[in-house]
Amino acid sequence: MTAAPVETPKQVERLRRIRNACRFGYAHDTDVITKPDQAHWWTTKQGVSVWLYAVAGGEVVGFGMLSERAGRTWSSTGVLPRFQRLGFGRCIMRDLILKAHGQVWGEARHDNPGAMGIHDRRWWEPVQETGETMIFKAVAA
Ligand SMILES: CC(C)(COP(=O)(O)OP(=O)(O)OC[C@H]1O[C@@H](n2cnc3c(N)ncnc32)[C@H](O)[C@@H]1OP(=O)(O)O)[C@@H](O)C(=O)NCCC(=O)NCCS
Repeated sequence: MTAAPVETPKQVERLRRIRNACRFGYAHDTDVITKPDQAHWWTTKQGVSVWLYAVAGGEVVGFGMLSERAGRTWSSTGVLPRFQRLGFGRCIMRDLILKAHGQVWGEARHDNPGAMGIHDRRWWEPVQETGETMIFKAVAA
């Protein structure tokens, strides 16, 4: 798998489409993202790094994102439905730990087994129960 930083308008649109295809799984912000919403976010965002992940041959399978919030670096990913359950989500989350400069955090809803599962216990430690979600801390790079 290769990771390409999102930079061009075409990549920003690809990211929007993947994000919308995966939106039901997120702990926060599950609304559909419109093109104007995405354009606004892209031009005003701060402390966000995002990559598109592709398999050999160039087909994009998903994205990985690191974003600064409340003094922490949070990880997030989405894998297109047709590529799910093949190990890509776990791989992307592992790669985000390696890409980050410092401590990484993750959050998963208890009712989302995929989100819980990509926080592989070899690299993620559950540290805080919030009721609907579990917060994870990356334990090793
Ligand atoms: C969550 C998501 C990223 C998982 O991606 P994925 O590529 O399918 O994940 P993986 O194949 O690496 O799965 C890792 C582990 O998670 C668990 N898992 C993943 N999908 C699952 C499912 N549908 N049901 C039960 N367990 C699941 C399994 O334990 C799996 O390991 P295994 O296949 O060895 O048993 C993907 O389902 C997705 O994009 N969902 C919508 C967005 C989202 O929820 N993002 C996560 C927010 S942090």
